[in-house]
Amino acid sequence: MKIFLDTAEVDDIKRGLDWGVVDGVTTNPTHIANSGRPFKEVVKEICELVDGPVSVEVTSLEAQGMLEEAREVNQLGDNVVVKVPLIKEGIKAIGLMSKEGIRTNATLNFNAAQALLAAKAGADYVSPFVGRLDNVGQVGMDLVAQIKTIYDNYGFATEIIVAALRHPTHVLESALAGADICTMRMGIFEMLMDHPQTDKGLEQFLQDWEKVRVE
Ligand code: E4P
Repeated sequence: MKIFLDTAEVDDIKRGLDWGVVDGVTTNPTHIANSGRPFKEVVKEICELVDGPVSVEVTSLEAQGMLEEAREVNQLGDNVVVKVPLIKEGIKAIGLMSKEGIRTNATLNFNAAQALLAAKAGADYVSPFVGRLDNVGQVGMDLVAQIKTIYDNYGFATEIIVAALRHPTHVLESALAGADICTMRMGIFEMLMDHPQTDKGLEQFLQDWEKVRVE
């Protein structure tokens, strides 16, 4: 399973890339706003830093406007993937973009029917927002399992990016469900590696090694 960072904070991305296991980045208008930097400048910098795909969202609400924005955003780096909201106009836009060879990530996905349409329209990625479903009393990971079954049933190549993760268990569940990618904030990424027993065990090994070490 691939790991993406869900942020527009360049320092976080650099820190994450340093571990050698980050495969891409997803941004959204909120992340860009939180970075406090001009849109094009920050997107270009992220695209240069990262080898893998970098999702960048369009904000127009009608298909033609989305397509025009996508053409512009697509110029910001070879690895740009255009994020399109899963509304009716978004489905149309994904079809148009895919005909032009612009890669797309169908975002704000909250049910499996939307994900089916995204795949039929030619989306390269779909992003179910599991944590936001959990927040309203649904089980977000059930959506991931449904999408996985549907895509497998019909051989769709659209990759599932599990998004809006809230804790490391979401990452584990995504891997068990066969999701292609998890996108997460730096905080969750770091939590994946933390275990008190690892720290305790390492401390013990080092103490014991000191007793027998010969210089
Ligand atoms: C995904 O691509 C989105 O940027 C993201 O995961 C949104 O999640 P949030 O609910 O943490 O804002």
